[in-house]
Amino acid sequence: MRSAKDFFRPLAVGAPAPLREVPFRPSRMIHFFDPGNEKMAAKVPALVPQVDVLLGNLEDAVPADRKEAARAGLLRTARATDLGATQLWTRINSLDSPWALDDLLTLVPGIGDRLDVVMVPKVEGAQDIHYVDRLLAQLEAKAGLTRPVLVHAILETAAGVANVEEIAGASPRMQGISLGPADLAASRRMKTTRVGGGHPGYLVREDPAPGAPADAPRASHQQDLWHYTLARMVDACAAHGILPYYGPFGDIRDTTACEDQFRNAFLLGCVGAWTLHPAQIPLARRVFSPDPADVAWARRVIAAMGDGTGAVMIDGRMQDDATYKQCQVVAGLADALAARDPELARAYARAHIHTDAYDTATEAAR
Ligand code: GLV
Ligand code: MG
Repeated sequence: MRSAKDFFRPLAVGAPAPLREVPFRPSRMIHFFDPGNEKMAAKVPALVPQVDVLLGNLEDAVPADRKEAARAGLLRTARATDLGATQLWTRINSLDSPWALDDLLTLVPGIGDRLDVVMVPKVEGAQDIHYVDRLLAQLEAKAGLTRPVLVHAILETAAGVANVEEIAGASPRMQGISLGPADLAASRRMKTTRVGGGHPGYLVREDPAPGAPADAPRASHQQDLWHYTLARMVDACAAHGILPYYGPFGDIRDTTACEDQFRNAFLLGCVGAWTLHPAQIPLARRVFSPDPADVAWARRVIAAMGDGTGAVMIDGRMQDDATYKQCQVVAGLADALAARDPELARAYARAHIHTDAYDTATEAAR
């Protein structure tokens, strides 16, 4: 039992008070880089203005004999880089690895004041978050930090999926959850060999025409391997006021399928995805920023609905409290992103002017 009153008390004397709301900062793309790779680290200053989140990866993809170099590289890069409005995150090693403890013991005192979020891989249940939560509080207190470092879990084990609701609500430190399709596939013993995306064998075929043989040509469509998990994750996150993300898409050349996966995630409620290569950055920016035409429509509905009660018809479509709330999500996201992205701000402003003109023309025609 834990009293609700204790939930927002710091877990160590002198640690900063937990946040009551996850701050909504744009995080359309969480861009991964290997801080131990000097060539990659040298490109960081040019990357910073292009991405919402820069993530120094210490876990998978960093070889065992480069773990310490990656950690040291992250300290160097974080101290030397002017991050502006871009967030700095890290993905630490998994809690059962020989490196996770030193990752936290080094990073929090070293760059805790610059680190927004710690991504924890292979989270299996609330117990993993509780462990990190207390340890972070102790380290924050010791380092004299004044704001808490937030925690992001990767959903990439079968146990994690079974426990996703308790993970999402395990601590006020929880910022969000990402789908980790590669490790999740392995943990579930799926028979795929990919990082995210679909599979041509996972499909549904239409019924045969009456009397036709079973091998007659029939339309079939690939289904989304990740729909169930993503939808469950989005519900768990929304229920606990934290943010859901698609994770990695490994086929860097297949920008079309990557964009499709990202868009499905966006439409289902996710706010961003990981980018593993610079080619994926513009895809994520495009997909996770609402379309200007949708923003214009949302603003139009909001304006027409006044105080949000009752119902109105716009272009033959019924609007009520529920569409008003959906439109507020779209318009609110657009405003938050526009505050960070001047190009988007211009696109949304143009769409707004267009709608006003359209409204005036429609009113005049009535
Ligand atoms: C990400 O870490 C994944 O396993 O997909
Ligand atoms: Mg993984």
